[in-house]
Amino acid sequence: MRILGISLGHDTNFCLLQDGKIIEVIEAERFFRQKRYKLHCLSLDEQPFPSGFQYTKLSDLKLFLKKIILKWGGEYDYIAVQNQKREEEFKNLKSLMSEFSYKDIINLNHHLCHAAGSFFTSPFKESVILSYDGSGNDGNTVIFKGKNSNIEYLNAYSLKFGSSYNNLGYICNISPDISGTGSGKTMGLTSYGQVINEWLPFFTKHILSYEKKPPQDGSEINPYGKCHTINWDHISEIDEIKPFINKDGTSSLCITDQIAQNICKTMQAAWTNCVLRLLNQYSDISKNLCITGGCALNGIANYQIQQQNIFENQHFIPNPTDCGLSIGAALYVYHTKAEEDFYGNKEYFSPYLGEEAYDKNRLDELKNTYNNVSCDKEAVPAKLANLICNNKIIGVIKGRYEIGPRALGNRSILCNSQNKEMRDILNHKVKHREWYRPFAPVCTAEDSSKYFTNTNDIPYMSVICETRDQYKQELPSITHVDGTCRLQTVTEEQHEFLYKVLKEIEKQDNYPIVLNTSFNPAGEPIVNYYEVALEMLKATDLDYVLIEDTFFWFKNKNSLQ
Ligand SMILES: [Fe+2]
Repeated sequence: MRILGISLGHDTNFCLLQDGKIIEVIEAERFFRQKRYKLHCLSLDEQPFPSGFQYTKLSDLKLFLKKIILKWGGEYDYIAVQNQKREEEFKNLKSLMSEFSYKDIINLNHHLCHAAGSFFTSPFKESVILSYDGSGNDGNTVIFKGKNSNIEYLNAYSLKFGSSYNNLGYICNISPDISGTGSGKTMGLTSYGQVINEWLPFFTKHILSYEKKPPQDGSEINPYGKCHTINWDHISEIDEIKPFINKDGTSSLCITDQIAQNICKTMQAAWTNCVLRLLNQYSDISKNLCITGGCALNGIANYQIQQQNIFENQHFIPNPTDCGLSIGAALYVYHTKAEEDFYGNKEYFSPYLGEEAYDKNRLDELKNTYNNVSCDKEAVPAKLANLICNNKIIGVIKGRYEIGPRALGNRSILCNSQNKEMRDILNHKVKHREWYRPFAPVCTAEDSSKYFTNTNDIPYMSVICETRDQYKQELPSITHVDGTCRLQTVTEEQHEFLYKVLKEIEKQDNYPIVLNTSFNPAGEPIVNYYEVALEMLKATDLDYVLIEDTFFWFKNKNSLQ
């Protein structure tokens, strides 16, 4: 059974499912080089029109539909669509897909797709499923029960966990990404603050009754997203915070203010508590929990969910945001149509399901432009490990990209985690990210609990843990100011190459830990063009780019034998 999954709106993505197996996933942002790129057909007007943080073009969607026919063919059993159940758009989409043939095209609810993407990639035959993010046509925070091939709604709440957290960034004047999201940055700032216990009830009220203010002006492009404005609600009742509220409702707080940092920390604590209380109500339904939706990227809450043991087992996915909805849509349709029960996945859910580099066939041409040396496949891990131990910063592109927002080794910048200055060097030479944002480590799974407090493997960086006390001084580049870190663990089965690199590093008397950050030009999504990756050798002080088995460097800046 061939199913094409489509998710329209921000983070547009497509997926090919063959007999229940995910063959490939396309995230439109990688192709267009714009974060969270949005394709839709709300209108069939050819003129570009403003939609939130970008102009959308019907021609882009048409181009992608053509690309899909070229890549995956035009014949499917079913087409599974997630578009927040916008009926007019669904009708338009059908008219644009006249060159496709299919038995049926099915329009699915938003959180149902999140839930299916999580449950049907889990090892569980039954599970409670929490899906939570900014909003959805079927609720904002939704609890499901997955069992065999069925997913049943247990409760849909109007709670806007995603919006209340995201709005925190605006309150603290954290500049969001172009796509209007600042939650990841905000989570980084929480580590600098203290929980102010007297504030907790106000923040809890804020989270439980959060309402978005109407957009100030949705008719033009707004880099902050059209629906977000500062909304203080109950926080404005706190005496210490009142002086920072301006007459126009904006905030005069700044990220360096201790009070802003305390707001973040206290909000995170209240937010985590609200999530835990919600989950507690469902703990007698199953010993398993699947967590999805954009809020599932909150690794601090995820750590507490694990530590509190409300559920014995948890399943996280690499793509819980809307970038994973085409998988969910396709899997949902498959399991409703296939005459077989789902008993849980026996295999690890690999995130390396994206596309190969778009300009793959230009590699020889690019070799004429940059210094390069190609190595035997077997020799590459040791060579890379050696460069890392010598404090070089290397961008790596291997195979297909990892789906979801985290770089997990196939589109990563890797460097020495044990160099105490590496965080500053990396920021100065390549990343230029905000001072308060941490960098993450990747460690061999079997060694990780020696250095970190994780009690489970963390293959998708979903759970924040702590660097163990005795290593905090030695690993400051990957340990955040409060001792936490966003670890990725890796086994040989999950990523043979990365695992071998870590083992080679260990052979050189180092810990099997590398600093791993996403390989992308500033402000762009994770790279999927060789040429763009190589341009970073010129535009930044990145030392090397490794493409498959070839190391590249720029002119006389470096050399390699
Ligand atoms: Fe969502």
